[in-house]
Amino acid sequence: MLKAKPFVKWAGGKRQIANKLLQLSPEKFDTYYEPFVGGGAFLFELAPKKAVINDYNKELMNVYECIKNEDKFVLMCRELNRHEVSHSEQYYYQIRDLDKNKKKFNKIPDYKRAARTIYLNKACFNGLYRVNSHNEFNVPFGKKNQVNTYDGVNLGILYTYFNLNDIKILAVDFEDSVKTAKKGDFIYFDPPYDSDTNTFNSYTENGFGKEEQIRLSKVFKELDKRGCYVMISNYNTSLIQELYKDYYFHYIKAQRNIGAKAKDRRCVEEVIITNFENKKGFD
Ligand SMILES: C[S@@+](CC[C@H](N)C(=O)[O-])C[C@H]1O[C@@H](n2cnc3c(N)ncnc32)[C@H](O)[C@@H]1O
Repeated sequence: MLKAKPFVKWAGGKRQIANKLLQLSPEKFDTYYEPFVGGGAFLFELAPKKAVINDYNKELMNVYECIKNEDKFVLMCRELNRHEVSHSEQYYYQIRDLDKNKKKFNKIPDYKRAARTIYLNKACFNGLYRVNSHNEFNVPFGKKNQVNTYDGVNLGILYTYFNLNDIKILAVDFEDSVKTAKKGDFIYFDPPYDSDTNTFNSYTENGFGKEEQIRLSKVFKELDKRGCYVMISNYNTSLIQELYKDYYFHYIKAQRNIGAKAKDRRCVEEVIITNFENKKGFD
């Protein structure tokens, strides 16, 4: 089957290391869970037949829902064509600021909200997703004269993938999203990364601090006890080394893509941690 590509640029996107993640994945598993799916780079690479995908970001998960639903899919693409034709700095701010009036915003049909999310992602500065304390998208205009909001073939591949397979889409906290996981299931966690310095990690209205990393490690251990295959990526910080010291560490070097200045796009050591041995010879 043809594989889809991410339809949005997403902070922490896993396209660059998708092959490494694939090498480390178990050969056989039942349901695949991805509680922090973001742009879906690894999901699309793995293309499992049964999956539960989740992200706290409701606007993003609404896009997945709309791609899966035939009627909404068609309407969303039409809306995206409209955004492309109308694109300008003034238009960008008009669409961006729709969420300032929550009453009106909540009445906007799903497919229009989905098209807005994609359009903002393509037209904003550096493909960032950032909201303020009122949950209002606040990334400035990306200064592009023209935007291509979608690749119809790619979205078509995704539509087919979602409809030919058993893919459940959620928008809840990561802990709730794995409640149904059982022995033999495979869970890949790609959370906002831990950091000892001040790097970009505010994806949602709630940040993801040390306490969240600790809560996540408890969920990891609980799934391990249940007999699931569990894999997580993160930075190789002292906290992460301590939390996962009983598991298998695999080291990789990857270039992060989010960061306004070239000097911020430095190489950092990333780790992939698993609760199972790798038999495919990861290097
Ligand atoms: C590192 S990104 C995932 C990137 C993704 N793997 C990709 O390839 O694009 C982390 C994601 O976690 C989500 N997130 C943050 N806190 C969360 C929570 N408590 N529960 C579920 N998702 C959360 C963010 O919205 C963000 O999309």
